[in-house]
Amino acid sequence: MDADNPLRKILILFAHPALEKSRVQYRLLQAARTLEGVTVHDLYQVYPDLVIDIEREQLLLNQHDLILFQHPFYWYSTPAILKEWQDLVLEYGFAYGSSGRALYGKALGNVISTGGSREAYHREGHNYFTVRELLAPFEQTANLCGMHYLPPFVVHGTLRLSGEQMDAYAARYRTLLQRLQQGIPVPGAIGRRQYLNEWPEPLPLA
Ligand SMILES: Cc1cc2nc3c(=O)[nH]c(=O)nc-3n(C[C@H](O)[C@H](O)[C@H](O)COP(=O)(O)O)c2cc1C
Repeated sequence: MDADNPLRKILILFAHPALEKSRVQYRLLQAARTLEGVTVHDLYQVYPDLVIDIEREQLLLNQHDLILFQHPFYWYSTPAILKEWQDLVLEYGFAYGSSGRALYGKALGNVISTGGSREAYHREGHNYFTVRELLAPFEQTANLCGMHYLPPFVVHGTLRLSGEQMDAYAARYRTLLQRLQQGIPVPGAIGRRQYLNEWPEPLPLA
């Protein structure tokens, strides 16, 4: 590790209510777990009764630079615990409001898997809206909290993926996390890009 450029600290807030049945998210999670310096926080495992320890979660946020919500896409959003987490942890005076600057300058992103294909998330497709449009509440939450929102990393068409294809996505995700540890793309550099999947490319880093 370069002493002048310490690794960015990544916190993965993971939510899957039935991990034992997961094919895709399980693989992504295992890949992330092999990386030193990436904190994997499995919310359903830590809070099986959905009673979230707000102080503990806020402390974790304070200790990291990049927060990733990693989850299957459920009804165009997150599994329930991640909504509960947002409602409780992103408090006025902590995450937003005149004295709520704890998240200021950090980055936020979603890592999702969807049953729908990439083509389905399109004006002419089955779901009409793009994934990026459907994730607007997360982008605006980031804006409100003074965070920088990254485009999502997405695994589409999960039902049709072979084991090898899912393994390839997991390896790709691991590479992406390693690159993000080196530096998070500066606001503007990554623009309105739909997906983080195609990154890394030579982009200016913060
Ligand atoms: C309750 C529920 C809601 C879902 N909602 C969506 C959805 O809105 N859009 C979509 O493309 N897939 C949807 N799916 C499919 C899941 O996203 C897909 O099965 C999951 O990402 C696969 O990952 P896994 O193998 O880790 O479970 C839904 C599945 C369930 C069980």
